[in-house]
This record gives sequence, structure tokens and C-alpha cells, in this order.
Amino acid sequence: MAELSPIDRAKYAAARRAVDFVEDGMRVGLGTGSTAGWMVRLLGETVRTEGLRIQGVPTSQRTAELAAQAGVPLTTLDAAKWLDLTIDGADEFDADLNLIKGGGGALLREKIVATASDRMVVIADLAKEVRHLGAFPLPVEVIPFGWQTTRALIEETLVSLDVLGREVMLRRNGDRPFLTDQGNMILDLHLNRIGNPRQLSFVLNQIPGVVENGLFIDICDTVIVGHGDGRVEVRDIATGRIEEERIDIVETENLFRDLGD
Ligand code: A5P
Repeated sequence: MAELSPIDRAKYAAARRAVDFVEDGMRVGLGTGSTAGWMVRLLGETVRTEGLRIQGVPTSQRTAELAAQAGVPLTTLDAAKWLDLTIDGADEFDADLNLIKGGGGALLREKIVATASDRMVVIADLAKEVRHLGAFPLPVEVIPFGWQTTRALIEETLVSLDVLGREVMLRRNGDRPFLTDQGNMILDLHLNRIGNPRQLSFVLNQIPGVVENGLFIDICDTVIVGHGDGRVEVRDIATGRIEEERIDIVETENLFRDLGD
């Protein structure tokens, strides 16, 4: 069994604390990415060992496959209609718990699922915390038809906005454009610092070829920050409270057998 890196231990600790939010009978949105991957495995373990009855709605094909392997019962958002809770990772979060997401390319389904949930809990390591969003390139999902025109419109829009960088890059997968689960493309906006995330999100979504952008504004309720030594901080936006706890990281559990995510 491979020794976990400090970052993986931090992600694991945050994911383990997040699973405590899941109650019997809940409909749960399942995020995408390496941190969410830990949560899906841990949820599967709780389903198997404690008989927790839940229905999961995956935010990507990748998460659907992982959940099926882990033994998390799945449904669709259309069947569930509304969810009790979504647990997902993030690429950045700020003090208002606004986020950048979409590093894994799943931002559209992630935003639909999180918005359709009573509560969104984000699990992250401390490296994701920022004073200002934007050091992580902002993913924007665009339809393939006329994508170069859409890119030009985005570049034109950025000229008048409060950002520090304005480079727009097509995301690639080898020598081809990266395609999302919807068959769309991703443009990564290298902005360095976003002065007004709310305004930026609004104006990007007015451009016809843009399907959605990776800014999650007023969607996240709670962030669980994990540390490599097992400490977790639970920050809640409604109460303003920060609670600290410690998670025991026992590396003999079954779920450490496969660190492929
Ligand atoms: C997926 O599209 C993203 O929104 C992920 O939630 C985000 O990239 C975090 O991924 P990690 O947990 O792998 O850092």
C-alpha cells in the first residue's frame, strides 16, 4: 500500500468529515475530482458497513463509474428532482465561500446539481483558499459551434472588466480539444485576479456560445478544510462559525487499496 502524501491525507480528512453530513434517506449530489473521489469511496464504505440508505446523483461520468464501483446507489437528477446535500471539491474558495470550479471539466453538471441542493458542502485542502479568486484559470464551457467567435467575444468582454490577466486558452486533451460530458469545449481564462466575481459570472453567461462558467457565487454553504495531520476546519457561511476537529487517518482501510483517481 502506497503511503499517502500530505495533500492526499488533507483531502481524505476533509472527505471523511463531510460524510458525517449525510443522513439516512438523503438524496446526495456527488462531486467530481480527487477530493470528491475520497468522499465517494468513504460513502460507499458507509453504505456497505452501516447500511446507510441514500441515493447519489453523480456530477460526471467519472464519478458515476467510481460510485458504482464503491457501491453507492445512484439515481438521476430528473428522478430525484431536488437534493438534500451536495458534497464536492473546488479549485479555489474565498472568505465568502465563493468558488472556482471546473478544473476537472465537470463544472456544468456540478453547478446544476449544487444549485438543486438544500446545502452544498465543499471539501478542500488549505492550498485552495485564496484572498481573491482568479489565480486558478477560470473554466468556461462553450458549445463547439462557432467557439472561436465565442472566444473573441469573451476576450472583448474582458477588456472592460476588473481582472489582471486576459489570456483565453482552449483546453486540450493531447492534440484534440478537451470535450466535457456534454460534448462541449472548455476555455480557460487566465485572469490572475478577479475583482468582481459576481459581475464576471453574469456577463460571461450573457455571451450566446457560453453554456456556463466555473464561478460558484452564493452556492456553497460550508467548506471543510483538511490538513495533512488530520485536522479539519468546518467553516459555515450562515453561522460564521469555524469548528476544528481531528480525523484519525487509518491507512489500513480497504479504500486505500486503489489510489488510481
Ligand atoms: C471538477 O470539474 C472540479 O470542479 C473539481 O471539483 C475541482 O477541480 C477539485 O478537484 P480536486 O479535488 O481534484 O482538486
